Amino acid sequence: MVEDSESDALLVLRALRRAGFALRHRRVEDGAGMRAALAGERWDVVLSDFNLPGFDARSALAELHASGLDLPFIVVSGTIGDETAIELMRRGAHDYLMKENLARLAPAIERELGEARVRAERRRALAALHDSEAVLREAQRIGGVGQWRRDLPGGAPWCSDTLFALFGMAPVAGEDALDALLTRVHPDDLGRLLQAHRELAAGSERVELEYRIVHADGSLRYVLECAARSRGVEAATPRLIGTVHDVTAQRAAAEALRTANARLRQMSLRVLDAQEAERRAVAYELHDQIGQALTAVKLDLQAMTPHLDAGPAVARLAAAIHTTEEALAQVRGLSLNLRPPQLDYMGLEASLRWHAERECARAGLALDFAGSVGEFKAEERCAIVCFRLLQEALTNVVRHAAAKRVRIALSAADGRLDLEIADDGRGFDLARARRRMLEGASVGLLGMEERAALIGGEVHIDAAPGAGTRIRVSLPCTAHAAAA
Ligand SMILES: Nc1ncnc2c1ncn2[C@@H]1O[C@H](COP(=O)(O)OP(=O)(O)OP(=O)(O)O)[C@@H](O)[C@H]1O
Ligand SMILES: [Mg+2]
Repeated sequence: MVEDSESDALLVLRALRRAGFALRHRRVEDGAGMRAALAGERWDVVLSDFNLPGFDARSALAELHASGLDLPFIVVSGTIGDETAIELMRRGAHDYLMKENLARLAPAIERELGEARVRAERRRALAALHDSEAVLREAQRIGGVGQWRRDLPGGAPWCSDTLFALFGMAPVAGEDALDALLTRVHPDDLGRLLQAHRELAAGSERVELEYRIVHADGSLRYVLECAARSRGVEAATPRLIGTVHDVTAQRAAAEALRTANARLRQMSLRVLDAQEAERRAVAYELHDQIGQALTAVKLDLQAMTPHLDAGPAVARLAAAIHTTEEALAQVRGLSLNLRPPQLDYMGLEASLRWHAERECARAGLALDFAGSVGEFKAEERCAIVCFRLLQEALTNVVRHAAAKRVRIALSAADGRLDLEIADDGRGFDLARARRRMLEGASVGLLGMEERAALIGGEVHIDAAPGAGTRIRVSLPCTAHAAAA
């Protein structure tokens, strides 16, 4: 209360108490007193006399403004002309009234307190808005994300500063913003981007595309733009919103991964080819050289038999012939497993059938072999992969399945070769087996998948405990002119 007359102050206070206010007040008479009061305690309202010795309402108002506080300022005066009052209001006073009309004071204070509360609330909301905008800007900067939006129809575009930063340029305001950005889009990608924006404007809910931008220094950045239809919060006008994300690093990582994969694939193919060539050479050596030598030994031994007298020597010779025959059978078996010669002269189906019949007979398994590719000759690599997959699958059936019957189907259509191997055995938990494979515990199934993938094929494994196992292989394969 800026007031020099104690009795006037008492009158005011009494009027307010009578109106029901619980009061705490401080009376000051000059600038220093007012400053101390404003700085020292929290107040709800300033009541000020118009004229005091050495101080006045105008100066009091200036003190209030200097303090930075937003308090209602009400002039309570004995004498005040309309013009003075208007001038004070213009300077920021909230109300004025005469001392003989104190009945008006309480309602005026009520009203001004309410308005001050509204102002404080708005200030808080505005501060929160600024804060969240700052957070958004900062998040966009940290994440390398830019943003644009445009109200439909025909509203001016708005682009975030981070978007311009992404494009390596200073912000441009107004209509020209998007056009300025478009000058930085790689010419080969510009058509796609414009087309996507047209689709969006024409009604698409969402578009997403990756394109390149060229900075002023010529460096290339890859960005991913996602844009969608949305609505303004208040007016609910349709609006397009886009976010642009710098994905150069991800692109580079993906590219490096692709290159590494391609390199690995080439290496693996080489290794497999070399392995097959080696096996072929060893199989040939075993069959032709060692096999023939053993055959010659056997023939010589047999030729000796008639010339010996009965006795221990004959028994020894018979044993030697038997051992030689066993060795021959082993050499032949080894050679066949290493490289079945059938593949070279019989065609794929016959080779697979021959191998399956041999394995099943040995393991006492019933076999249904349904082949429909006949004389079809697959390319060398495809044929070998197909054969190795069958070999591995059958080995697994014999080793793990405890099956009674194996069903094999081979067919070809649309440039693909399909092979299916199904058993009625105990099956297995595929997810668990996969975990063990990745820990390095086994390589069979993994090798099947790898071999197939290397030539662009796929392997599907259907297995469940107690429900048998089915392996489906699909390989890209074109028929190959018969070799012989
Ligand atoms: N036909 C099948 N019937 C039942 N279980 C199978 C069959 N095929 C595979 N499994 C199960 O899946 C596991 C993984 O098979 P995978 O061929 O990868 O390894 P492995 O045969 O144990 O060892 P290897 O690396 O010598 O092939 C096997 O250990 C077995 O438990
Ligand atoms: Mg195996």
